[in-house]
Amino acid sequence: MRILLSAVLMIICTVARADDNNALEREVEQVVATMLEEFKTALTTAMKEDGPAAAVGVCRDVAPGIYLDLALDRGWRVTRVGTRVRNPLFGTPDAWEQAGLAEFRQRQADGETLESMTRNETVREPGGRYYRHLRALGTQPVCTTCHGPRDEIAPDIRAMLDEQYPHDRAVGYAAGDLRGAVSVKVPLAD
Ligand code: HEC
Repeated sequence: MRILLSAVLMIICTVARADDNNALEREVEQVVATMLEEFKTALTTAMKEDGPAAAVGVCRDVAPGIYLDLALDRGWRVTRVGTRVRNPLFGTPDAWEQAGLAEFRQRQADGETLESMTRNETVREPGGRYYRHLRALGTQPVCTTCHGPRDEIAPDIRAMLDEQYPHDRAVGYAAGDLRGAVSVKVPLAD
């Protein structure tokens, strides 16, 4: 009887935990979608109104502003990581993110489209449990303005990038390439 009860309890707990994770997954996906939308609007408005050189400032200032707001509002770590990186502070993938990017590359090679490609996992690290979410970012034609082959980037943008990001490695991308991913890390109770 006792064994049966604990088995039932275990099943209930597992189902409850799965439900919690599904709710969290939906919340995270929603926040990422809003963030990408906000970012896209800021980028296209700046590109249209002030030109691509001014939009470099949007990428430099708007993105970290959004990461900081999400960190303080929700207690999550949110950032964009790259397969090659322009700003190492925010863009360098950790081990889990590197494995995720490698998985995305493989899935793309196997015929899956990058759009809405994600990886979700609950992990245990030395410091505790985390829910992790990675969402692929493909290179769209507009992205090549600042991430395309170095010698195809307009001279004024190249000059700005060289000045602000002297260690820039995030160039040489063609439309359709995997550029990186949005990464979210949510601390969980033990
Ligand atoms: C106007 C220039 C510009 C355009 C257009 C642009 N980016 Fe960037 N991108 C930047 C800059 C500048 C950074 C570094 C931001 C920072 O300092 O955190 C960056 C950083 C990134 C990063 C973070 C990893 C890294 O390399 O530091 C990703 C991912 C990224 N861009 C993806 C994209 C995608 C996808 C597009 C197209 C939808 C795009 N970018 C369009 C200028 C641009």
